[in-house]
Amino acid sequence: KPVDGLQVAIDGPSGSGKGTAAKMLAKEIGLPVLDTGLLYRLIGGLAIERAIALDESESLVALANEMLESVAWTVDGITFDGENWTDRLRSEAVGNAASKVASQPEVRECLLGLQRKIAESGCVMDGRDIGTVVLPGAQAKFFLTASVRERARRRWIQLKEQGGSSLEAVVEELKMRDQRDQERQHAPLLQAEDAIAIDSTTMRVDDVVDRMTGVLERRGLIV
Ligand code: DC
Repeated sequence: KPVDGLQVAIDGPSGSGKGTAAKMLAKEIGLPVLDTGLLYRLIGGLAIERAIALDESESLVALANEMLESVAWTVDGITFDGENWTDRLRSEAVGNAASKVASQPEVRECLLGLQRKIAESGCVMDGRDIGTVVLPGAQAKFFLTASVRERARRRWIQLKEQGGSSLEAVVEELKMRDQRDQERQHAPLLQAEDAIAIDSTTMRVDDVVDRMTGVLERRGLIV
């Protein structure tokens, strides 16, 4: 059982396995989980659908505010206007749009309040800036990494199920997205000083989660 109001922040690049690890960890210790990438993906997905340019910060902020009104989330993902959008938000096109949308500081600012509110009563949250910006006071922070090749391989396997592209193309797209997420001015992907780094390149997700629960136990954060 988690201590009252326990916040666990999990950050890392795409394909590091943070999403899966966050879900498993949350289930194991009995906390809600929020994949914050889905919020950016939803804005990206809506922008594509409505043909809004991905650098038009004013329209994107309006979209973000509209999203905040009608968004809801469960362990299985997020719904918008009562409709489950999770699956259609997983495509590379939406991932890229999300990454562009996420480089707008005004958009990030909009989502900050919601993310903090969700975390108030305790949760596992995964994203890029959770340990650094969203929940700097989180009692446990993890930074998941894996080699570019391994991350691309994982994503490629996922995409294959939807009839996706070649491994080389996925490697290139991943590198571009990494660069955008790391080099943006506002809240870039960065390891928090007090975060524990886990390189998952050769680890199974169960082992990653075991490592995390071990840390929580040692710190007396789960009993
Ligand atoms: O984790 P993901 O691939 O679903 O995230 C999609 C994009 O959203 C990612 O390229 C960067 C952005 N993002 C972000 O900037 N901050 C977060 N906390 C989560 C995601």
